[in-house]
Amino acid sequence: MIKPWLWIPASLAHAVSDIGVQASAFLADDWQDQPECKWKPFRWNGFEFKNRLGIAGGLDKNAENIQAWQKLGAGFLEIGTVTPLPQKSNPGQIIARDLEQMALWNKMGFPSKGYRYVSDEIRFAERNIPLFVNIGKNRQTPNDKAFDEYAMLTENLRAQADALVLNISSPNTAGLRDLFKKEYLEAGLKKVLKKSIYTPVLLKFSPDMTDQELQEVVRTAIGVGISGFIMTNTTTYRGPHSPFPTEGGVSGAPLREASVRCFEKVQEFAGSERNSLLLVNCGGVMTSADVFDRLKRGADLVQVYSALVFNGPGFLKEVALEWKKLNHVARD
Ligand SMILES: Cc1cc2nc3c(=O)[nH]c(=O)nc-3n(C[C@H](O)[C@H](O)[C@H](O)COP(=O)(O)O)c2cc1C
Repeated sequence: MIKPWLWIPASLAHAVSDIGVQASAFLADDWQDQPECKWKPFRWNGFEFKNRLGIAGGLDKNAENIQAWQKLGAGFLEIGTVTPLPQKSNPGQIIARDLEQMALWNKMGFPSKGYRYVSDEIRFAERNIPLFVNIGKNRQTPNDKAFDEYAMLTENLRAQADALVLNISSPNTAGLRDLFKKEYLEAGLKKVLKKSIYTPVLLKFSPDMTDQELQEVVRTAIGVGISGFIMTNTTTYRGPHSPFPTEGGVSGAPLREASVRCFEKVQEFAGSERNSLLLVNCGGVMTSADVFDRLKRGADLVQVYSALVFNGPGFLKEVALEWKKLNHVARD
């Protein structure tokens, strides 16, 4: 299959990706209305997911492509990361890819048009798929004020979100991952949950956390009333043949193992509370077989980012057709 976006530099492909997504959606048949769009449907918290494969945080940062993603067959969409004030990307190179290893590298650091802009975009979009809104603090905000920003964003975006996702796991904002420490986390989550009212709040994990860190965070978050978890964000780990700089985060195929491990540990640490939680697996899901594997391991929902870069937006339809081919539908 011809994939022209892979012939041009990653930074240029990234810059024109919105146009690519919109054009693909325009050219797509009315896929969302076809029976293929509905495979292994799911209901959660009163929301109907036509299928369990969704778009990970970071692909539609400012909620500008909601209709395109739903036409392309996404079961759900996570927009953001959205910050309080508008801010630009980190300086210098912010994205690279390695075709051989099917890996992406990024150092974006929450470029965002800010929550007011995003809130208007969501309000005026006609949508028929569940929408998660991923939120993050501004780069300059110190950690002791960070959860005030998460609480403010929660209060202002909860009415437009089917769930909010707290992103404290990006490696591209200095010190952000320290917010997982108990000294910040417990009081911080309580602040956020006080403002969320009926909107569920999910926490997105880093794949670089130890088992002990994961256990502590899972127990703390369940203790204060979190609704679920997303495993995982990008990794700071570099394999022996990684072509990427040491700063920034890696996603795609090299993340597969760490993401599965993190998912399984979180599921284990949730214990008897697992069934009251939404567990989403993301990271290194590159093929249809990966999607089905994550579902088999117990994920309620699966998300992709890198697979869409390497395979194109037609990946969503490919997975649905593959599901039908394998005749899983009979067992729904
Ligand atoms: C270029 C790029 C930008 C990203 N931006 C965000 C973001 O703004 N918020 C977030 O929570 N995750 C972000 N992510 C992480 C993805 O949501 C996802 O967790 C990660 O890429 C692993 O999934 P994958 O292997 O399918 O790519 C970004 C990833 C990439 C590659």
